[in-house]
Amino acid sequence: MTTKTAVTVRVPAKVNLQLAVGPAREDGYHDLVNVFHAVALFDEVTVTGADSRAEGACAGLGVEDATGGGLAGHVARVPVDGTNLAARAAELVAEACGGPGAVAPVRLLLRKAIPVAGGMAGGSADAAAALVACNAWWDAGLTREDLLALAARLGSDVAFPLLGGTAVGTGRGEVLTPVESPGRYHWVFALAEGGLSTPEVFAAYDRLRPEAPAPAGDPELMAALAAGDARRLGAALSNDLQPAALELRPELGAVLECGRAAGALGAFVSGSGPTCAFLAASADHAAAVAGALEESGRCERAVTAHGDVPGATLL
Ligand code: C5P
Repeated sequence: MTTKTAVTVRVPAKVNLQLAVGPAREDGYHDLVNVFHAVALFDEVTVTGADSRAEGACAGLGVEDATGGGLAGHVARVPVDGTNLAARAAELVAEACGGPGAVAPVRLLLRKAIPVAGGMAGGSADAAAALVACNAWWDAGLTREDLLALAARLGSDVAFPLLGGTAVGTGRGEVLTPVESPGRYHWVFALAEGGLSTPEVFAAYDRLRPEAPAPAGDPELMAALAAGDARRLGAALSNDLQPAALELRPELGAVLECGRAAGALGAFVSGSGPTCAFLAASADHAAAVAGALEESGRCERAVTAHGDVPGATLL
């Protein structure tokens, strides 16, 4: 029996510094070269004991806005049933312990600061945090490699938030190679009302680029990261999904333009969008870019965050 009253794990959002997308594979996924970078926008996932058991090991799930109202609309879109990726993560850890009958039921609370369906892997981050939190709560003894394997079963972006930092993802994005990244970068994220569906963005990509070449890494991006050079990095940022996200959400073009006009070193759609990401020259510059974006009225909200930061951490 555990004597803990709660276990909380803090987990970062990601932005993709490069997202090179190959053609659709037989299984519907796309081979990627995906340079993940963890940024200081954090969700927290708390595990507590639950009185009653639902069907599985996760007896309930709650979601709160950790930003004091800024994400109210986002939080309302998060599923609170067994389809939530964090609940599924809990079930996978329970399975590794011998099945739901072998563990005491839990309740999960997600406190969200990462935009929902925003191209920053918030749902995947919550799932990664739930893996770490349940592993600790049930004293399951799963190793980092075990957790990475469970993460890959949950989704292509779930493994990265376990590592954090900066890493290249290949395959579906789940095969990770950490990258030495000595620089500290200042980012601005322009949040949008309403999410974009990742499968829909990939489908638009297939329509726009039916003959996509095999994805390849960008040596200039890696050199910029190795040098810790924000200006070089800004010039090398790229996202193959951006034209697809812009086709589905044309108004994002004006958001990108607004950040460029404020002097951003790089302006691009984050992952499958609709969040737009901007690299700034300093923390002060990031605050100024965020101010310009908010004043423009073209985004729901603009937030600043530095990167990279460590992955899922027990508090
Ligand atoms: O792996 P995950 O469940 O996060 O992927 C969500 C969707 O994104 C997939 O169903 C697929 O449509 C698309 N996807 C893809 N190729 C990848 C990763 C995701 O087509 N490498």
